[in-house]
Amino acid sequence: MRERDGLVTAAILDGKALSETLRARYRDEAAALTARGVQPGLAVILVGEDPASQVYVRNKVNACLAAGIHSEHCRLAADVDTARVIAEVERLNRDPAIHGILVQLPLPRQIDEAAVLAAVSADKDVDGFHVANVGALALGAPRFVPCTPKGVMELLAHAGVDLNGAEAVVVGRSNIVGKPMAQLLLAANATVTVCHSRTRDLAFHTRRADVLVAAIGRPKMITGDMVKPGAVVVDVGINRLPDGKLCGDVDFESTRTVASWITPVPGGVGPMTIAMLLANTLEAARRSLAR
Ligand code: GUN
Repeated sequence: MRERDGLVTAAILDGKALSETLRARYRDEAAALTARGVQPGLAVILVGEDPASQVYVRNKVNACLAAGIHSEHCRLAADVDTARVIAEVERLNRDPAIHGILVQLPLPRQIDEAAVLAAVSADKDVDGFHVANVGALALGAPRFVPCTPKGVMELLAHAGVDLNGAEAVVVGRSNIVGKPMAQLLLAANATVTVCHSRTRDLAFHTRRADVLVAAIGRPKMITGDMVKPGAVVVDVGINRLPDGKLCGDVDFESTRTVASWITPVPGGVGPMTIAMLLANTLEAARRSLAR
């Protein structure tokens, strides 16, 4: 926490800077694996033309290329059926040059998402969405951990946040962020509350949080008056405002004068998600060497 103009201002949890440090390390690790004859490889499957997904996928593929990770971008038309997507997944399951497979979500309505995610080999599931990996995390023996919550844990560790016995509140219960986030905080000995759209008095819970993670998908929903003084606030949201600017699920201006640490949007959790995807892909490549 910093003092500025008589006001207390939260320190910035800088995911952009941390992710750049990590990505330099991953480039070295990818080079070392390549020298041992295994160039790490990631395949990203994108079904349809959702503009936000196209940006995310492009960022992931570019991050791989910059790290020396082989990357394959598989595009399928918006009207393909579940069997076609599963056939693509199975082809990649068999490809020895591919160590990680990521199916960008959301998928078009006609596609059975659960069936597609179940088709990804658990050994190549760098998103951590396969039931075997979800189960392993729930049992406290994680294998692949979903990239966004994993990135949040890295940010908290980097800031030296002590989670032991801390009150942690996660707002949002998605399979991609909220649920695995709660599991990771629990494994780190926090007392965890998960809030969601049916929670009766959201502010009652958020005001008790030493660590508050917002993963709701609604612009600026968490305001400074809902935050405990000195709390660590992590904003997973990326929302586009009518003027085209990006904003998080947290109202940054009113919260930064209350919190001790806060992640910006953009430049907080987003870059960490991509860094963790590279980390998981390297892990998958290392494990293939051991098999
Ligand atoms: N859509 C939004 N976030 C994610 C993610 O982390 N992985 C995948 N595959 N799709 C997403």
